[in-house]
Order: sequence, then C-alpha cells, then structure tokens
Amino acid sequence: MSYPIVVLISGSGSNLQALIDQSLQGKLNINICAVISNKADAYGLERAKSAGIATHALSHKSFDSREEFDTELQKIIDQYQPKLVVLAGFMRILTETFTKHFEGRMLNIHPSLLPKYKGLNTHQRAIDAKEAEHGVSVHFVSSELDAGAVILQASTKIENNETADTLATKVHSLEHIIYPLAVKWFSEERLSYDNGQAILDGKAIPENGIRYHKELI
Ligand code: GAR
Repeated sequence: MSYPIVVLISGSGSNLQALIDQSLQGKLNINICAVISNKADAYGLERAKSAGIATHALSHKSFDSREEFDTELQKIIDQYQPKLVVLAGFMRILTETFTKHFEGRMLNIHPSLLPKYKGLNTHQRAIDAKEAEHGVSVHFVSSELDAGAVILQASTKIENNETADTLATKVHSLEHIIYPLAVKWFSEERLSYDNGQAILDGKAIPENGIRYHKELI
C-alpha cells in the first residue's frame, strides 16, 4: 500500500517534481493524493495535473485572517487523510493551531544550513556573510518559523565568483536529493518525531540533522 501524502506549494514545484519522479521510478512508495497552492498561477499545479494528481488553489487573499485561511487549508488537507504533509516551497507563515494539528507529520525544506539564515534571501545572505559553505535543511515543522527539529542537511562550497543564482541552482539540486530521501524514511516509518525530537531508526537525530552523503541512499 502506498503512503498517502499531501504536498503544499507556492511556486515552481521542482521539489514536488522530484517526489513525483522518484515515485514513478518506484524509488518512493508514496501516493501524492493532492497538491495545494496558495497561488493559482503556481507552475507546480501544472506539474501535478500532468501527473494526474488532484489540485487545489486556495488564495490567502480571499480570507480576512491568517486563522481563517489556515482553517480552510486544514479542512482540505484532512479530507485526504494524509499520513504526511510536505511543504515544498510553500511560502506562508503558519498559525500555531495549524502546526499543532500536523505536529510530527509535516515536513519543510529550507534553503540554508539551519539554524543559520531563517527567512528569505538565504543565498545572498550566505554570500554576503562570506560563508565557506551553504546548503539546505529538511526539518519537522514547529510553530516557530524555520525552527523545527532538523532531519537532514546537504551542503555545497561557496566559490569566489558565486552569485545568488549560481548558488540557488547548486542548492536546488541538493534539495531534489534530500527531500525525497527524508520522505522515504518517513513513509517507511524509520523517521519519527517525539516531543520536539527527530528520530531515525530509534536513535535521536543530532540538533543540526544528519549531513547528507551518498551512502545514505
Ligand atoms: C526551494 O528552494 C525551497 O527550499 C524554498 O522554496 C524553493 C521552492 O522551490 N523554501 C523556502 O524558502 C521555505 N522557507 P520549488 O517550488 O522549485 O520546489
């Protein structure tokens, strides 16, 4: 039986595509029941439709408050009874009620080596700070922005002539490796969450997550 998940997006959906591709290739035993975007023109919705996945566009602009939007979003997600909710470039700050409802069964990917560079423009900020390396983190979602328990990180060297665009491209290709891997671990019930702690194969994952290397696949 494939593992039911719902994916939330706001944009291009290349991470969604990585999940679709790996599931078509039989590398991931998941069933993406629905893709939901807060932006009707998100390209990721086209990717989902091409893969025959149900889509919903729910504009936050149609709601008077963050609470009302999150309540409706939760209702749509719950209809599908997913075992996991995957935020893949979903650019919304979520209410505590929403994050509590999905606690321990909602993942996010963030383009930095957390706890560094929470929020936006992470690539430029890492270059400006003259960091030697930059990267990406997959983490459980908590009520605090980009702050839940980290599961996996992957890093890349920042070269002398690096721009935010070249760095974003390098980080994106790492995203497409580590996000499907974390989803695979969760769907195989190897990865879980207990009271703010991420656990893999019964062992607590260190605070900065597991650093990706090829042998993990
Ligand atoms: C990704 O780079 C992801 O890490 C980032 O949005 C992009 C979505 O790309 N997420 C965040 O910044 C969340 N704070 P995609 O739509 O091509 O998957």
